[in-house]
Amino acid sequence: MDELVSLCKRRGFIFQSSEIYGGLQGLYDYGPLGVELKNNLKAAWWRAMVYERDDVEGLDAAILTHNKVLRYSGHEATFTDPLVDCRTCKSRWRADHLTEQKCPKCGGTDLTEPRPFNLMFKTTVGPVDDANSYAYLRPETAQAIFTNFRHVLDSTSRKLPFGIAQIGKAFRNEITPRNFIFRVREFEQMELEFFVAPGTDEEWHQRWVEERLDWWARQGVDPNNLQLYRVPADELAHYSKATFDVMYRFPHGVEELEGIANRTDFDLGSHTKNQAEYNLTAKVLANTDSNAKLAMQDPDTKAWQVPYVIEPSAGVDRGVLAVLNESYRVEQLDNGTERTVLGFEPHLAPIKVAVLPLKRNHDGIMAKAKEIKQTLQALGIGRMLFEDTGNIGKGYRRHDEVGTPLCVTVDFDTIEKDDTVTVRDRDTMKQQRVAVAELTDYVKDYFK
Ligand code: GAP
Repeated sequence: MDELVSLCKRRGFIFQSSEIYGGLQGLYDYGPLGVELKNNLKAAWWRAMVYERDDVEGLDAAILTHNKVLRYSGHEATFTDPLVDCRTCKSRWRADHLTEQKCPKCGGTDLTEPRPFNLMFKTTVGPVDDANSYAYLRPETAQAIFTNFRHVLDSTSRKLPFGIAQIGKAFRNEITPRNFIFRVREFEQMELEFFVAPGTDEEWHQRWVEERLDWWARQGVDPNNLQLYRVPADELAHYSKATFDVMYRFPHGVEELEGIANRTDFDLGSHTKNQAEYNLTAKVLANTDSNAKLAMQDPDTKAWQVPYVIEPSAGVDRGVLAVLNESYRVEQLDNGTERTVLGFEPHLAPIKVAVLPLKRNHDGIMAKAKEIKQTLQALGIGRMLFEDTGNIGKGYRRHDEVGTPLCVTVDFDTIEKDDTVTVRDRDTMKQQRVAVAELTDYVKDYFK
């Protein structure tokens, strides 16, 4: 983990947030390469969930959430972790993270009894700070999918089964944020709520577990580093009938990367008025004062029913950490040196191609390199980089370390002889001459 954290800072992937003022615990900022990696991971998820399927719509809802949404969803009452205080050094801990009844900081054994601590961040909306004007920073993106269910349904005429996908920020006031970007207070989620007819939920749950394992493998995550964990009944979230956690072998241990829950009719039922009319199977907080009917008519019987929902919910930041961990390797080379490589899958690489002019003070070489960069940029594959640091060997090493799959070097032969460039492959380190006229096809083929 230390090597990854150090590389992430040195190469501009991830920085401690507000570091110049000592940092804010549990918050990180994504730098020039981190934002590309994160965007690429999110784009891969959106492609797989929305564009490549015919049964999913997208959504991008507000982060600030009406207090009633999170009251009737059950979060005000139950979204808590058990908190203990050390009376000796005044530090605070999650009771379920302590391996013994001892403070991990000072070793003191004078700890308070665990008490529930609500993880939601509260804030006021508008200039008047009265008892009802508060809102929450959402603790999951999911709730806005449920509260917009009717709007999406009415504007798209979807029939069951269908899903609504959303990527966005979520906030939790974690008692002990830790392990770099693994457990933080502000993070992003990629969530799909897939609505199904009651009775078909268990089959869909299985299907989504398989889909999601397959997707992680396509992001370069070794299936041997993934495990499926069936959450025991007494540990299930208040809304879940069954949950499978996709566990990943992070540098600090095997922990949850994604949760795939069967939320039944709990959430739509909770936000629906006149709940008694719908034969809900989940125990919801009675008497919501929403004005919504989040139900659909059975096409055969015409009876109104509240759909069940299967929810694959993945953390973007945990995904970034997993992908970085999978990609990181240090190779011993024949000449006795070593090189560090981030062997990202091409679609995730922050920089796709680096174009390097051999000489900085050669107008012809510089102009050609810039022109090639612009041509490649226009392919729409992702970020192409023109980099005129002048030292090609060092440039290759640097691009290995940030995971750039291809480097293109423009030299004297390009200008004076045959209009070819050197294309150097990150993984094999092989170099080959490619005609400039064929370069776009070469690059398109590589990233296909
Ligand atoms: N809507 C369901 C839900 O939020 P969850 O298991 O609490 O379920 C889903 O969260 C995913 O969000 C987790 O699998 C994890 O990847 C990510 N996540 C949750 N809390 C996190 C935190 N404090 N820091 C980073 N990621 C987190």
